[in-house]
Amino acid sequence: MSYRLHKMNKYAFIIPIVLFAACKIDPVIDLNDGHNHTHYNLNIPAGLPAMTIPSENPLTVEGVALGRKLFYDNILSANNTQNCGSCHQLRNYTVDSNLAYSTGIDGIQGTRNAMPLFNIGYAKNFFWDGGAASLESQVIGPITNPIEMHETMANVVDKLQKHPEYPTLFKKAFGTDVVSSKYIMYAVAQFERTIISANSKFDKWKKGEATLTAEEERGRLVYLDANKGDCTHCHSYGSTFTDFDFRNTGLDSIPEDRGRYLITLNTADDGKFKTPSLRNVAKTGPYMHDGRFENLLQCVEHYNKNFHYTNNLAGELKTAVKGRMSEQDVQDLVAFLNTLTDEEFIKNTAFDKPK
Ligand code: HEC
Ligand code: HEC
Repeated sequence: MSYRLHKMNKYAFIIPIVLFAACKIDPVIDLNDGHNHTHYNLNIPAGLPAMTIPSENPLTVEGVALGRKLFYDNILSANNTQNCGSCHQLRNYTVDSNLAYSTGIDGIQGTRNAMPLFNIGYAKNFFWDGGAASLESQVIGPITNPIEMHETMANVVDKLQKHPEYPTLFKKAFGTDVVSSKYIMYAVAQFERTIISANSKFDKWKKGEATLTAEEERGRLVYLDANKGDCTHCHSYGSTFTDFDFRNTGLDSIPEDRGRYLITLNTADDGKFKTPSLRNVAKTGPYMHDGRFENLLQCVEHYNKNFHYTNNLAGELKTAVKGRMSEQDVQDLVAFLNTLTDEEFIKNTAFDKPK
């Protein structure tokens, strides 16, 4: 008897551990739609923090695959000639090649520079002015934008519903073969959250797998020095290289594009734009919301001496001494920015157009 009890206790102890371990690797998740979906295991590299995924739209293998297919499908545009990847090209680090402004389906140019999509799952607001508050709601923007894909959601839903493959793919991802705007947004957002980049020379250096040259190391210190670059105040050093906040960096005395103000209608936001990540920045030019600068040297010289004193100018620049960085500092800083390029990223076929 005592032996049996002992045995039972032993099992009582073991079973929860086994169940817990099973949960951790359990590939099936229940979205309360009566269907099983496969958990998508998002691999976050050492250089980045954990990502908060909205509980109503967990990542599933089926959802990510559907989102990826939609992202690269011309069916989302009015004349079936453009997809998200037309402007967010993987081979160009998810931006247009060298275009200041993106060109939409009718050949009309927008007024803003395409933004990169890597590590987008960490952002709080979307677009240069933060006009979309979630990655899900953002998806509608480019589809219906008259200058971008110029399509209506009703048409997109209709085209996908009549398509030979999509209804089955929606069923696998969301348990229903009725195509809807909601699940188009959910699927594309799921795919976007998987697009991660954090394997630059800088990351390798942090892990002790690469060494910075003397120039790059000096540039790293300029970046951090509050009396020189002071870049880290906004482009947070390490991790995502942005704090995602909105700032006026004095590009113009009177901003032509009023940026964040267009969303909040608060004059304190005039000329403020979302701080972009500096990861892969050597590859995402031209620079700033309107693509006005062609190279990183011009960007650094803007902060060093070319910024304008204007209403709402960021505090860091109001107090910054013009010309505080020497020519050497500027060159070193550019060399450091070049260490933030992740060359493996554009070779990752999981982010590319599905075969
Ligand atoms: C015609 C080119 C073009 C197409 C097509 C396009 N985009 Fe964009 N994308 C842009 C531009 C330009 C911006 C910046 C717009 C702004 O701030 O006003 C942008 C911004 C974004 C952002 C915000 C990034 C951030 O850091 O805030 C996301 C997300 C995005 N696009 C996803 C998509 C998705 C998903 C699609 C397909 C449904 C798509 N884009 C189609 C050009 C394009
Ligand atoms: C006060 C906050 C702030 C500081 C300090 C700051 N930046 Fe920026 N940075 C921004 C914002 C905001 C933008 C976008 C501005 C726009 O387009 O209107 C930007 C844009 C950039 C861009 C263009 C990126 C792109 O994809 O277009 C580069 C490069 C850049 N900053 C580098 C630096 C460097 C290097 C430093 C230090 C010398 C620095 N920044 C300091 C906020 C800041």
